[in-house]
Amino acid sequence: MPHRPYVIDQMISAKSIAARVETLAREITTHFLGCDKLVVVGLLRGSFVFIADLVREIDLPVEVDFLEASSYGDAMHSSREVRILKDLRGEIAGRDVLVVEDIVDTGFTLHHVVNLLRSREPARLEVCALLDKPSRREVPIKATWTGFDIPDEFVVGYGIDFAQRNRNLPYIGKVRFTE
Ligand code: IMP
Ligand code: MG
Repeated sequence: MPHRPYVIDQMISAKSIAARVETLAREITTHFLGCDKLVVVGLLRGSFVFIADLVREIDLPVEVDFLEASSYGDAMHSSREVRILKDLRGEIAGRDVLVVEDIVDTGFTLHHVVNLLRSREPARLEVCALLDKPSRREVPIKATWTGFDIPDEFVVGYGIDFAQRNRNLPYIGKVRFTE
């Protein structure tokens, strides 16, 4: 389906993201200090850039794993049904786990993933989300750490897509339709 034409207005610069990632990583390092190995779980695909930057600033032994959850919605609206398309490769029972998400919107995805992972009885499970749209929340869930609270805008870049496009932008921008 052809797209309506749009432009992307910068919302958060690459420099601001880098500074925030450094702070988040410092707080995460302090929180899990002494942990023998932190399992960092990236939610595919939107978190791939964020997790790459974040783990390089975390000063702890880390293991990286990925999980892909999908909602049935269209390109701009998430649905309430969450499916697991790709599960973790490793076991997390008794381990310290950090879930890394790109955006918390309605909260359905994170709620589902956190419940699933908690059922596997990790020692500790925390969540770091790059972006949060609090005004969109339908399920009461909050990440332990959030990079930026943003208004109800559709955003792209830094791993985040609009119908699989614009993931490679180094900054976060909002989609503005031009017609
Ligand atoms: P939730 O289940 O409604 O919280 O949806 C979270 C997921 O929807 C995120 O992991 C994103 O993949 C996607 N999403 C939510 N808002 C945006 C956006 O502004 N741009 C791109 N994807 C988004
Ligand atoms: Mg996602």
